[in-house]
Amino acid sequence: MLLSEVLDALAPLDGARIVDGTFGAGGYSRALLKEGARVIGIDRDPTVAPFVDALTREFPGRFAFVAGPFSELDALAGERQVDGVVLDIGVSSMQLDQAERGFSFMRSGPLDMRMGREGETAADLVNTLSETDLGNLIFAFGEERASRRIAKAIVAARETAPITDTLELAQLIEKTVGRKPGAPHPATRTFQGLRIAVNGEFDQLVGALFAAERILPEGGRLAVVTFHSLEDRIVKRFFDQTKTAAPRSRHLPYSAPVEACWAPVRKAVRAGSAELGRNPRARSATLRSGVRTSIAARPEQAAGLGVPGFRRGAA
Ligand SMILES: C[S@@+](CC[C@H](N)C(=O)[O-])C[C@H]1O[C@@H](n2cnc3c(N)ncnc32)[C@H](O)[C@@H]1O
Repeated sequence: MLLSEVLDALAPLDGARIVDGTFGAGGYSRALLKEGARVIGIDRDPTVAPFVDALTREFPGRFAFVAGPFSELDALAGERQVDGVVLDIGVSSMQLDQAERGFSFMRSGPLDMRMGREGETAADLVNTLSETDLGNLIFAFGEERASRRIAKAIVAARETAPITDTLELAQLIEKTVGRKPGAPHPATRTFQGLRIAVNGEFDQLVGALFAAERILPEGGRLAVVTFHSLEDRIVKRFFDQTKTAAPRSRHLPYSAPVEACWAPVRKAVRAGSAELGRNPRARSATLRSGVRTSIAARPEQAAGLGVPGFRRGAA
């Protein structure tokens, strides 16, 4: 998604060393390699291995892959010098299309949703969280207005038997809130919320942004493509934070600008009509990018980035 815009944001690429923190099927990495860059791919999903093998064969000596979470991309890149970082946040079409991964509410599969292999599955959350926690999760991470009704229906249904199948959950939600013609499937937001919780997606995103800030030298570029407004808000505030002027004081003739870790490359970019025609899922995709200044990296801080809050056991 937004591939040519990403290449523009990271340019010049010939000879540049780029970390592709969301390798996926290797679409971005391949395009970067074709432009003459050296690429370190990172992904936490072990099923990307065949795409890694293909690029390793095709671009010997210019492509390396490290498995792991992108929140640790600075550590995963090791001692290598890096000129640019790209992140294409979200679930890959490959993950969505494989019913056995449990991301899709259109196909029957185990209610899993883990991008990697560790940690709790969506079924664990659905079958163990309290009704209040489930409702809060679906509201905070899925922005679902019917979150309380859905949580109540889930808790009632699991009293008979645990909910373990994606279609079973999708049908339960449809039965609970109904389905409007032409509207997105009523399970869309609940599935999004569960996926974000299972994969710790907001913490991962915040971690990756600050890791990029630490690893990139002055002049280094960061390009981030997000898929929905909750993620975009985090990236926007991360870049904006240090660009905004300090609060005005009426005792001073002007407010001193805050020293910024990032200068803008260009304004936020959204998918154009040609791309939307090919891929309707790109409708909320947004690219933001920045160039690293000489100002020292900030300590990692989620406060002020507008990260949606959900904590288990909170009232
Ligand atoms: C939208 S896809 C990227 C597609 C890629 N740009 C391409 O051209 O094929 C996102 C990828 O990032 C990976 N991913 C998501 N969160 C991650 C994380 N926290 N750490 C590492 N990889 C992650 C997913 O497993 C998925 O393969």
